[in-house]
Amino acid sequence: MMQLLRSVFFSMLLAFGIPLTATAQPTIVIKFSHVVAVDTPKGKAADYFAQRVAELTRNAVRVEVYPNSTLYKDRDEMEALQLGAVQMLAPSLAKLGPLGIKEFEVFDLPYVFDSVSMLHRVTQGNIGIALLKKLEPKGIKGLAFWDNGFKSFSANRPLKTPEDFNDLKMRIQSSKVIESQMRALGAQPVVTAFSDVYMALKTGVVDGTENPHSNFYTQRMFEVQKHMTITEHGYLGYVVIANKRFWDSLPRGIRNQLTQAMNEATEYANRIAQEENDKALARIIETGKTKVYVPTSAERLALKREMVKTHKELTSRIGQNIIEAIYSETGFKPEEL
Ligand code: LMR
Repeated sequence: MMQLLRSVFFSMLLAFGIPLTATAQPTIVIKFSHVVAVDTPKGKAADYFAQRVAELTRNAVRVEVYPNSTLYKDRDEMEALQLGAVQMLAPSLAKLGPLGIKEFEVFDLPYVFDSVSMLHRVTQGNIGIALLKKLEPKGIKGLAFWDNGFKSFSANRPLKTPEDFNDLKMRIQSSKVIESQMRALGAQPVVTAFSDVYMALKTGVVDGTENPHSNFYTQRMFEVQKHMTITEHGYLGYVVIANKRFWDSLPRGIRNQLTQAMNEATEYANRIAQEENDKALARIIETGKTKVYVPTSAERLALKREMVKTHKELTSRIGQNIIEAIYSETGFKPEEL
């Protein structure tokens, strides 16, 4: 009887968001797994979220962050989330396509966003809200969009023209759009888990890759790539997600505190992302190991003309409506190239 009363009392405290002391009730634990280094926009934002959750819930909830694929690699982490083995993830947007939510592939279209502010008009507006809703039938609660940044190409030979990509084996995330983008350049796309990219580059399993500068630097790709071209041809960002059953089972007060922590972490992530990528680029240059090339506007245009072919090719897969909604939000006009 006492036991029952005790448990009803603690449930009521949790329901109203009143924090419990560590000894009073077992803490709620959230495992938050991700694949990148701690010192990246996503790594820092996940740690920031964990810190704010501890403060706001006064340790009633503990977020354990597992960086660098220490728990799961790319696709495995998605399965782990759906099964409830981890409660939270922040996969790149590209990783939602293979789950069957093809609208998310729109973010992989090369050159679809010219700037982060254009991207935010999409992720922070009605399109973003509608996309998060699409996750629910998969047992996933979409919480927020976090930025990383724009990607550049690297290889062991200079990459200035589309011809320079001919027959290069280029590592990609599992994405039909990025696959088509690499083929448009005459390269061979090779899907590789993020944690295996360094070794794949080192051993010649692949010749080159694309990444935001923060990932390139923190994965030490400068040791195994002689050339990088600042193309910034496509965006790489994240959707922060939770196991829906777990999220819905949380007491309302706790859920509100987690939502507040997530809003703050999102503001933080999106504030530091560009700066982190700029710092990473400066460090890559400082190593002197990767030669960094800034293409001329004519070179940029030639690459762009090849790569935007993917828009038409992938429209029926991704969905005409979402592509047109994004064009009208950003003002992108592929026919004007
Ligand atoms: C990749 O696989 O290249 C990225 O998704 C890694 C990441 O999470 O930034």
